[in-house]
Amino acid sequence: MTVEHTQIAGRPGAADASSIGYRLLYFLGIKPWDQGRVPPELVQLIEGEDALPPGRALDLGCGGGTESIYLAQHGWQVTGVDYVARALQTARKRADAARVAAQWVRGDVTQLPKLNLGDGYTLLLDLGCFHGLNEAQRTAYAAGVAQTAARGANFLIFSFAPQFRGPAPRGLSREEIMRSLPGWELVWSRPASGMRLPLPLKRANPTFYRLRRR
Ligand SMILES: C[S@@+](CC[C@H](N)C(=O)[O-])C[C@H]1O[C@@H](n2cnc3c(N)ncnc32)[C@H](O)[C@@H]1O
Repeated sequence: MTVEHTQIAGRPGAADASSIGYRLLYFLGIKPWDQGRVPPELVQLIEGEDALPPGRALDLGCGGGTESIYLAQHGWQVTGVDYVARALQTARKRADAARVAAQWVRGDVTQLPKLNLGDGYTLLLDLGCFHGLNEAQRTAYAAGVAQTAARGANFLIFSFAPQFRGPAPRGLSREEIMRSLPGWELVWSRPASGMRLPLPLKRANPTFYRLRRR
């Protein structure tokens, strides 16, 4: 069974306004990140040596849900959040096709407390959402994340290195990530392996960060 929530957090229209770029991309079917392939860095966490025991997982900016569905298939109780309805429709269809249950929440990751997601999440995932937020948005995001994550929770983040890229995400340095997320410690950071990226983004130093909640 899948459940879809349709609320948008915050002022009516607030999330809608900031999501215009992504809504347009999804509408046009331009979604190079949606490769239907789970990154090896996540597979290692879930199935590798010292695999994490299944628990509650929160996928922030879940897009078409590939990673959320993978986690659900491995026994995790998953909530995927995204502010684009079209992305969540795809995620729900894919979850139905895969016959897994997940909760899909439409809303803004910078306003998590208003989404009533509960707490006790032992794994958080952000593949490509956080690194597009500005400093004020990151502060709000971090406060919401702190409320949802269990002590000792793991957080897997994918980010480009910071550089102006027009409408594409600016990216974040390791220092910016750690400064934005007080209460989390870095376990490791690794160059992203096996991701099919357009040439300019290959040079963007795509990196995975594994953090742990103190
Ligand atoms: C680059 S895509 C990555 C999607 C997915 N994580 C993946 O790896 O396939 C970034 C996603 O974050 C979502 N997003 C960006 N900012 C957001 C925000 N403030 N609140 C909710 N979703 C957001 C976008 O709609 C988009 O689906």
